[in-house]
Amino acid sequence: MRPASLLRTTTFRLALSYLGIFTVSAIALLALVSWSTTMFIEWQVQETVEAEATGLSEIYHDRDLAGLADIITQRARQDIDGRASYLLMNSDGQPLAGNLRGWPMEVADQLGWVRFRVIPVPSAGQGSEVMARAYELADGYRLLVGRSLSDAKRVKSAINRALGWGLALTILLGVVGGYFTSRHMLQRVEEMSRIARRIFGGDMSQRMILSGSDDEFDSLGESFNEMMDEIERLLEGIRTVSDNIAHDLRTPLNRLRSRIDLILLGPPDCDGYRRTLEETLAEADNLLATFTAILTISHAESSARLERFEAVDPATLAADVVELYEPLAEEKEIRISVAAESGHSLNVDRHLLFQALANLVDNAVKYTPAGGAVSVSVTSSGDVVTLSVVDSGPGIPEDARQSVLERFVRLDSTRTTPGNGLGLSLVHAVARLHGARLSLGDNAPGLVVRMEFPAS
Ligand SMILES: Nc1ncnc2c1ncn2[C@@H]1O[C@H](COP(=O)(O)OP(=O)(O)O)[C@@H](O)[C@H]1O
Ligand SMILES: [Mg+2]
Repeated sequence: MRPASLLRTTTFRLALSYLGIFTVSAIALLALVSWSTTMFIEWQVQETVEAEATGLSEIYHDRDLAGLADIITQRARQDIDGRASYLLMNSDGQPLAGNLRGWPMEVADQLGWVRFRVIPVPSAGQGSEVMARAYELADGYRLLVGRSLSDAKRVKSAINRALGWGLALTILLGVVGGYFTSRHMLQRVEEMSRIARRIFGGDMSQRMILSGSDDEFDSLGESFNEMMDEIERLLEGIRTVSDNIAHDLRTPLNRLRSRIDLILLGPPDCDGYRRTLEETLAEADNLLATFTAILTISHAESSARLERFEAVDPATLAADVVELYEPLAEEKEIRISVAAESGHSLNVDRHLLFQALANLVDNAVKYTPAGGAVSVSVTSSGDVVTLSVVDSGPGIPEDARQSVLERFVRLDSTRTTPGNGLGLSLVHAVARLHGARLSLGDNAPGLVVRMEFPAS
């Protein structure tokens, strides 16, 4: 990533604005520190001047003007480093004692606290600022006692320099830190978009690499990976279904085609044509039924149908299914009955559950010999509502009870009866969709199929 485009990133801008806020507050803090240091030092200078002036005024009281002049001369001599300023002046403006050549021009008429600049005698240059106190004594005499502020200035500028360096270093670290943080973040974002592009390119097996730090990028990556797993699973499901359809419809379609081919090859035969057309129609109906069954199973297997769930009374559903099969059962001389506790409510897809129950009753009526009995029941115990379909037919051997749930599996013993081997597959898919437990058992004689629903 080029530095120019890095500057445009949100992270870097965010880092910069925080740095800006921080810098402004740091400058305010530094100004406060600098100001209060200056105040403190000036206050100390004032205290010193005050103390000295008090001492001198006591001397003036005790020993009069001459004594004061002596002391001032003596002190001015002792002050080798030029920090102190003294001046005793008569009413004509003549200096009597002290180390100043005259009363400072800039404070000519002032008394009390004054500030002025002193340029030391031998050297030239800026000189140093003095803070002093001016007193009026008797007979127009005036006294000036002061201290240089140069030490205070030095301390102040040392502090300011240190603070300035500190601030510069902070800003530098902030910019560099912001740059590297942004670059690190961007690398991960770029990594993610690279993987996403590979997935767009068709490689569905690509997954985000997690850094293991459990940060926001990791949780984003995790969600992304889960989403990809789900998409892959769904695609795999679609592929399987279409493979199955292609494979399982091929045989009957081929059969249908060769039958037509065969009759057309022979001499024209009206009865033959009619028979073939009737057989073809039956085969086409069969194909359509198989198609519908496969699609219904696919629907039941995709959780997209969850939204169609509604509260259904299984007793009503059972009664409706039994009513539908009554004519067929009667024709086959099979007694069919329903024993259902009403008042239960299941949150289900009504259409799919009806279809599943109908498939079970269809099998029971189809595979039970004449004179037998079929019964549908709805019972409950605890949190479980059980729908069962029981018959008195040949039943399913225990070792085949799992395999009959698979698509297109039919037992050899029943191969002569019409069917496509998809009925129990749908029951299985519907049970799974509703979180129900499906079990096939022995009714001795006959088959018992139970679907146990968690009560809603
Ligand atoms: N009530 C039953 N009694 C005996 N055999 C059964 C019964 N129900 C299902 N079967 C066996 O299980 C197989 C699969 O059933 P199903 O999936 O409904 O397909 P189909 O009924 O179309 O054959 C049937 O072919 C049959 O051999
Ligand atoms: Mg069936």
